[in-house]
Amino acid sequence: MIATILDTVHFIGTNDRSKTLFENNWPLPSGISYNSYLITDKKTALVDTIEYGSDHTYIDTVEHLLAGRPLDYLIVLHMEPDHAGMIGDVLRRHPHTVVVTNARGIKLLDIYHPGIAREQILEVKNGDRLELGHHNLQFVFTPMVHWPESMMAYCTTEEILFSQDAFGTFGTLDGGIFDDEIDPEYYKDEMLRYYSNIIGRYSPQVERALQQAAKLPIRIICPVHGPVWRSNPQKVFDWYAQWATGGSEKGVVLAYATMYGHTKQTADYIARKLSENGIRNIRVFDVSKTHPSFVLKEIWKYNGIVLGSCSYNTGMHPSMHQLCHEIEIMQPGKRNAFLFGGFSWSGGGLKNLQLFAEGMKEKHQWHLYTPGIELPGSPDRAALRTLDAHIKDYTEGL
Ligand code: FEO
Repeated sequence: MIATILDTVHFIGTNDRSKTLFENNWPLPSGISYNSYLITDKKTALVDTIEYGSDHTYIDTVEHLLAGRPLDYLIVLHMEPDHAGMIGDVLRRHPHTVVVTNARGIKLLDIYHPGIAREQILEVKNGDRLELGHHNLQFVFTPMVHWPESMMAYCTTEEILFSQDAFGTFGTLDGGIFDDEIDPEYYKDEMLRYYSNIIGRYSPQVERALQQAAKLPIRIICPVHGPVWRSNPQKVFDWYAQWATGGSEKGVVLAYATMYGHTKQTADYIARKLSENGIRNIRVFDVSKTHPSFVLKEIWKYNGIVLGSCSYNTGMHPSMHQLCHEIEIMQPGKRNAFLFGGFSWSGGGLKNLQLFAEGMKEKHQWHLYTPGIELPGSPDRAALRTLDAHIKDYTEGL
């Protein structure tokens, strides 16, 4: 796919509808796009590439747009292979192209693409400029958004922000490439899932990057996944500002693991009680059915989290264990948690949820409603009613 952003700035992207798991971990029900950008000024510059093997026409497309000119610069804003995968092929076609990146990018280049001569690499520092003619690029370091070498390039003359992973989203570009050619709201959910699963852990760094970017007049945002934001870039800027301080909406994500439906009974009872106590946003998930990435996306929005697990080999259910592991990695902070479990010949579900939640309390300012509740076997009406006062107390604390 190609599109003209300006006469001298071109979008070159590809849609990946074959890959089932991004980073071999995150489901891609709507696929994903990889975007790269070519500037054809007095000097020519390619800004990031695409994943190796995702589009066999990529090099031909670059050549078509170069129209016989040499490629002066290959600017590497982010070294993750979904964007740096074609560096080798580009340099084989253009052996004299200068690779532009920062000191950390150089180290990663050595790992992923060894053999590039040091003289062929231009190291830039935060704030450095690269003049291409009309377009002048200024580099803005944004470490950990998404990797330590991550940086953005800001075109001072045309006020374009090449933002690499930031403002990117899962989901292919199905015809429309620019925000005025699509319904931006269609991408909001998948952009939040990308944010909460891929870079949410680095939200303090995202906040710092947003503060830097807020000082710049930005007319167009060109990310490496998803739409180009040229009509209303403020919209995604505002989304990001909200997500970087996630968990601000009043609501509860209730995730449970069950083997034979007994813990589900408790979950549905709690959900109903939450509703009776005035909570309007309640999202309930069976973690054996729903991949953690979709649960995390919802956790990112709301200030309440209720986790329940049956006991499984004296611990929590493996599916709940996986969700807790992903939560520990992505570190949504300051949530109000309520825990419950089910037991039969052994307990362990609740106990292990408590161990997990104590860790989140210590490291990420979770507030735990104690005690958690563990119900035996198939909970009868009387057993379920013992939850009522606890859910009322918990709800009042949200
Ligand atoms: Fe889209 Fe961090 O790579």
